[in-house]
Amino acid sequence: MAGLDDFSLDGLVALIPGGGGGIGSALAVAFAGAGANVVVGGRTQESLDTTVGQVEVAGGEGLAVVADATNEADAERMVTGAVERFGRLDILINAVGGGAGKVLHNAEIYPRSDWDWIMDLNVRSTVVPTQAAARQMIAQGGGGRILNISSVRGNLGIKAGYSAYVAAKGAINSLTRQWATEWAPHGIRVNAIMPTFVDTPQVASLLADPEFKAGIVNRIPLGRVGETRDIVGPAIFLCSDAASFVTGQILGIDGGLTATQ
Ligand SMILES: NC(=O)c1ccc[n+]([C@@H]2O[C@H](COP(=O)([O-])OP(=O)(O)OC[C@H]3O[C@@H](n4cnc5c(N)ncnc54)[C@H](OP(=O)(O)O)[C@@H]3O)[C@@H](O)[C@H]2O)c1
Repeated sequence: MAGLDDFSLDGLVALIPGGGGGIGSALAVAFAGAGANVVVGGRTQESLDTTVGQVEVAGGEGLAVVADATNEADAERMVTGAVERFGRLDILINAVGGGAGKVLHNAEIYPRSDWDWIMDLNVRSTVVPTQAAARQMIAQGGGGRILNISSVRGNLGIKAGYSAYVAAKGAINSLTRQWATEWAPHGIRVNAIMPTFVDTPQVASLLADPEFKAGIVNRIPLGRVGETRDIVGPAIFLCSDAASFVTGQILGIDGGLTATQ
């Protein structure tokens, strides 16, 4: 009978590119606590080692692979690292991305260089590891679970500056639906979460401005910004057997923000 056991990730192997970041590291530790072995990827050894240390404290086994998620050979290395160490790959969480607040330009003059940077950081960094992971999941059989990290900006416009970021996250939402449809025959489920502001180092300087933060909080019905622990439950659900009939969905984790639009 279905029950709480369906939320367990016991014995599953998860790869998290971006696992040294704010959301990625929180998910790595939580997934280890739920029973998974976790491989984290990123460009900085130190932050990956910190996450692996936390994964081990949480009772899981961890592996750090220094890799650029936009590079095909590096993505392949993350996947083979998981397979060589843990025998297979069951879960991919694409936790690389962001950058929106660093490059705000009016739409009519949005420069190509910043456009390309945002698209690479968010879309290419998702597509390249997903292709490598899906090839492995298809070859090994037994299905798989892929979770993309989008943003409420994938569905909503905003007054100024976000052209590239909304395009990138909109692309992630579309790819989530496309991959879910295309890989369903292989038993690979593909879903996405779309948070509003989550208090991570990436947005810390924005949220440090009390006026800016108040403007954000006023728009969110639950009256606060997100914390990384708000991401954990929905992510475990979507990557567990509890969601075995859920695919192609994009779940808002936004304190009700999108409900107001
Ligand atoms: N925080 C928010 O408010 C918020 C809201 C909505 C959606 N999101 C989304 O959530 C995701 C994670 O955001 P976050 O706040 O956790 O950001 P973060 O703390 O900056 O983490 C991102 C991680 O990605 C890694 N990374 C960047 N480029 C990479 C590349 N080319 N190859 C490999 N790793 C790379 C970074 O490590 P290295 O630089 O060491 O490689 C970093 O550890 C992003 O997609 C973001 O758009 C965040």
